[in-house]
Amino acid sequence: MTIRGHFITFEGTEGVGKSTQMANAATALEMLGVDFIVTREPGGTPMAESIRELLLAPRDEPVNDMTELLLMFAARAQHLYTRILPELESGRWVLCDRFTDATFAYQGGGRGVPGEQIAQLESLVQGSFRPDQVILLDAPVETGMIRARHRGELDRFEQEAVAFFERIRRTYLERAAADPGRYHIVDAAQPLEAVSEDVTSLIESLVHRS
Ligand code: TMP
Repeated sequence: MTIRGHFITFEGTEGVGKSTQMANAATALEMLGVDFIVTREPGGTPMAESIRELLLAPRDEPVNDMTELLLMFAARAQHLYTRILPELESGRWVLCDRFTDATFAYQGGGRGVPGEQIAQLESLVQGSFRPDQVILLDAPVETGMIRARHRGELDRFEQEAVAFFERIRRTYLERAAADPGRYHIVDAAQPLEAVSEDVTSLIESLVHRS
C-alpha cells in the first residue's frame, strides 16, 4: 500500500486549544494549496462517533480500563481503515484531533494500563502505521482545566482529577522527548497569537519538506 498524503495528529491535555490550532493548521494548508481533511478520535466515521458517545458519556457504572482501551481501538480500526487510509492513499493530507498517542497518555499514563499492552494493540490494529508528525500542544494542566470547565458540561474524562491529567501530560512529554524528529512540542501557555504563529510556521515547514 503506497501512502502519499501526510498524516498529522494534534495532541494535548484538556483545554490546550487543539480545536483552535487545528483550524489554524487547516487555514495554512488551504493557503498552500494542499488538499486535506480534518477528523478526530475517538470518532471520524458514523460508527466510530457512536463509540465516542459510549466512551464519553458520564455513567454510574464503573468503566473497566480494558473496556475503555478496547473501545478506543475499536473506534480507531473503523476510522483508520474506512477513512484515514483511503484519504491518504488518494493523496490528501489528514489532520487528526488525537490518535494513538492519546491512548498511551490517557489509558497508559492516566489509567495505568501497561504501555506494552497498548503497544500490542497498536501493532494489531495499525501494523506499522504511525502518524508522520505529531503536534503536541503543551500547557500546565490547571490552565487547560480552567478553559475546559468554561466550555460547559464535563464529559467522563474531563471529570477526572488534576493528578490524572498531570500523568497524561508527563506521558506525552516523555513520548515527545523519545522521538524529537516526529513530535513537535508547542508551548500552548503562550498568548494565543504566539501559539497560532508557531503552529502555522510548523505546518508551512512540513509542507515545504514534503
Ligand atoms: P477530545 O475531548 O479531545 O475530543 O477527546 C475526547 C476524550 O477522549 C479526551 O478526554 C481524551 C480521550 N481519549 C482517550 O482517553 N484515549 C484515546 O485514545 C483518545 C483518542 C481520546
